[in-house]
Amino acid sequence: MDLYCVMGNPVEHSRSPWIHARFAELTSQTLSYGRRLVPIGGFADAVAAFRADHSGTARGCNVTVPFKFDAAALAQHLTPRAALAHAINVISFRDDGIHGDNSDGIGLVNDITLHAGVPIAGSELLLLGAGGAAAGVLGPLLEAGPRRVVVANRTLAKAIALVQRHAALALQHHVSLEAQELHAVPGTFDVVVNATASSLAGGEVPVDGGVLKPGALAIDMMYGPAAAGFMAWARAHGAVPRDGLGMLVEQAAEAFETWRGVRPPTATVLAELRAIVDAK
Ligand code: ATR
Repeated sequence: MDLYCVMGNPVEHSRSPWIHARFAELTSQTLSYGRRLVPIGGFADAVAAFRADHSGTARGCNVTVPFKFDAAALAQHLTPRAALAHAINVISFRDDGIHGDNSDGIGLVNDITLHAGVPIAGSELLLLGAGGAAAGVLGPLLEAGPRRVVVANRTLAKAIALVQRHAALALQHHVSLEAQELHAVPGTFDVVVNATASSLAGGEVPVDGGVLKPGALAIDMMYGPAAAGFMAWARAHGAVPRDGLGMLVEQAAEAFETWRGVRPPTATVLAELRAIVDAK
């Protein structure tokens, strides 16, 4: 049987095994998907061990925090969006080596446009953060054709570097792209994406509520307690809050299609997963 897994640290709470098992059921695919806790500094060894443990049947894996950069360095072939992100979350083992992709950005775009029903084309979009999470999504956000994207970060230099790396892509898609400090964000936005880790540390949302247009979509890339502070902030400022559960399902769907050549029904799986998470 074809084998897959998610590798991370921590990894025990990952929903990926459940999501991929459900995708497999709904598309009549035969596969097994597990999880592997990888010691810090041991990513390459863990990939080698996974392949050695299942010689010939290990087909790929998802990569989560904190190994997305290690994974990009390990892969011999990167998709253009993965090369731009400097990080990957999807690995495929093929005859010519390890292939890497980053499906986080297209997962976010698909959640916003398909599940939240908010168009990105022509919109004004604010991306909070300039770390790995932000880098993973900026390319596909630009490709979705917003009118303007501001990347705002506590450390301005990191936002500037991220924006410079994406300048050619922004130009190609006629997007006005700029870097700003969190406390000096000019204008108001239709969509605000939180890719900072501030809520993980229990911190305040690091930007003024005035950045939200009335009824704006404010989406955190996390879900559960980690997204609660940002969502409460969004609600209090008249925006529509959204967590990262839909992005999680959509990035998984992209990986599943890469591996299996079949697109799983994401709306069904998202509704089921939402019920499970809400029941906790
Ligand atoms: P990840 O892979 O989750 O993006 P990361 O690469 O460490 O993790 O990036 C964390 C992001 O959250 C960065 O944009 C960071 O801002 P800095 O670049 O200034 O460090 C942001 N961040 C973390 N804690 C924050 C806080 N308390 N307030 C504002 N931004 C914060």
